[in-house]
Amino acid sequence: MSIRPATADDLAAIMAIERASFPSDAWSEAMMAGELASPHGSYLVVEEAGRVIGYGGVRAVRGAADADIQTIALDAAERGTGRGRMLLAALLECARNAGARTVFLEVRDDNPVAQGLYRREGFIETGRRPRYYQPDDVDAIIMQLDLVGWDAARREAAGNEPTAVASGGVCT
Ligand SMILES: CC(C)(COP(=O)(O)OP(=O)(O)OC[C@H]1O[C@@H](n2cnc3c(N)ncnc32)[C@H](O)[C@@H]1OP(=O)(O)O)[C@@H](O)C(=O)NCCC(=O)NCCS
Repeated sequence: MSIRPATADDLAAIMAIERASFPSDAWSEAMMAGELASPHGSYLVVEEAGRVIGYGGVRAVRGAADADIQTIALDAAERGTGRGRMLLAALLECARNAGARTVFLEVRDDNPVAQGLYRREGFIETGRRPRYYQPDDVDAIIMQLDLVGWDAARREAAGNEPTAVASGGVCT
C-alpha cells in the first residue's frame, strides 16, 4: 500500500469510489476536478498494486489556523483493515505542515463507522446541524481536533522523528 498525491489522472478512479460510497450526495466530477486542482489543500490517494483504492482531501490554506477534512473514502472491498486511519493521519499531517492548529469536519449522524474513525484519532463532537443532509434528512455532527496536541503525541510516539509526511513529499 502507498499514499501519494492525487492527480487529474486519478479523477475517474476517485469518482467511481465517490459514487459508490455516497449514492445520495456524491460530488459531481467537475467539483472533484476543481478540488484536485486547488492549491489550498491536499488530496491524496491510497494505491494498492497500482490501483487506486481510496482517496481523501483536506482544505488547509497555508498560514490559516483552521483546516477542514473535505472527504475520505475507500473502495468498499478495502475497508476495515486500517487504511482509512492511515489516510486520515496523512491528511492531518498535511494540514499541520500547512500551519493549521485545529481541524474541523462534518459527518452524517447515520455513519457510525466514520464517526468511530474520527473519534479514534482524537476528534471530539462540538455541535450538530439538524437535517443538514438532504434529501436524506440526516443531521450533521460537527467534530474538531486539536492538531497541535495530535502532532505532539504522534511525534513523541515516533521518538520525536518527523514522520514520512511531515518530512515532505506526499502533501500537495
Ligand atoms: C470511513 C472509512 C474511510 C474508514 O476507513 P477504513 O479503512 O474502513 O477504517 P479503518 O480500518 O482504518 O478503521 C479505523 C476506525 O474506523 C472505525 N471502523 C472501521 N470499520 C468499522 C466497522 N465496520 N464498524 C465500526 N467501526 C469501524 C473504528 O473506529 C476503527 O478503529 P479501530 O480499528 O481502532 O476500532 C471507510 O469505512 C469508508 O470509506 N466509508 C465509506 C465512505 C465514508 O463514510 N466516508 C466518511 C465520510 S464523513
